[in-house]
Amino acid sequence: MIEKVHLIAREAGEIIREGFGKQFTVEFKTNSSNLVTEIDKKAEAAIIKFINKEYPGHNILAEESGVQPGNSNYTWVIDPLDGTTNFAHGLPIFSVSIGIQKDGKTIIGVIYDVMNNRMYSAELGSGAYGNGQKLGVSRNSNLEHSLLVTGFPYDIKNNPNRTIEKFNAFLLQARGVRRLGSAAIDFCYIGAGVFDGYWEVHLNPWDVCAGILIVEEAGGKVTKFDGKICDIHSKQFLASNGKIHDAMIEILKRID
Ligand code: IPD
Ligand code: CA
Ligand code: CA
Repeated sequence: MIEKVHLIAREAGEIIREGFGKQFTVEFKTNSSNLVTEIDKKAEAAIIKFINKEYPGHNILAEESGVQPGNSNYTWVIDPLDGTTNFAHGLPIFSVSIGIQKDGKTIIGVIYDVMNNRMYSAELGSGAYGNGQKLGVSRNSNLEHSLLVTGFPYDIKNNPNRTIEKFNAFLLQARGVRRLGSAAIDFCYIGAGVFDGYWEVHLNPWDVCAGILIVEEAGGKVTKFDGKICDIHSKQFLASNGKIHDAMIEILKRID
């Protein structure tokens, strides 16, 4: 099954690559920071068409079109273009993210980093891979030596969960903090050992479904901010190499 998921992620990626830097329509969703382009919709339509043909009856949860109920115990959780703001502004950091759950448990996660032509994937119990090479999280256990990544939600102007204060605190504690603009790629870079830790609030199931599995299969840890177990609906996520997890929880709890 995973080979077929690679195929459709690549096909959606080609639609996105083809549209990059060209003219496309852009609409606002909740506010003027939250965009959707015609390319997001085209990529999603291609993925859904593929699922309906290859796996009729599977349930679908996709960012732009919502729920398509089926009659099976499989659910595809899809972000056709993660990093739309980057895409719309011509910044080449965005991805296609496809997770598959069976009976509510994620069994496959595939994230295609479009402009780097890099396919990240994981199957439950079988490890995580980037372009076929096994991934592993970093070994660093010192927050002061850590490179972290975060993201800001579309309602950042309300400073939910004291996002700005948390960002300040990590900025002062860690070696550096980055903001790439694609949550799915953030998870992949934790799995690949590039970043040591990642936190973000107000994420949706399609932002995290594939990424959580990739981090876990690469030996990392994903929880809520307080360290408690999370699922794709948890909204707040802390992902790390496991070794700096407690140090990050301490800061996240202190600035609650
Ligand atoms: C967004 C990106 C971004 C994150 C936002 C997400 P979208 O997804 O993953 O990095 O900070 O919270 O909503 O809208 O580009 O699919
Ligand atoms: Ca997203
Ligand atoms: Ca998206």
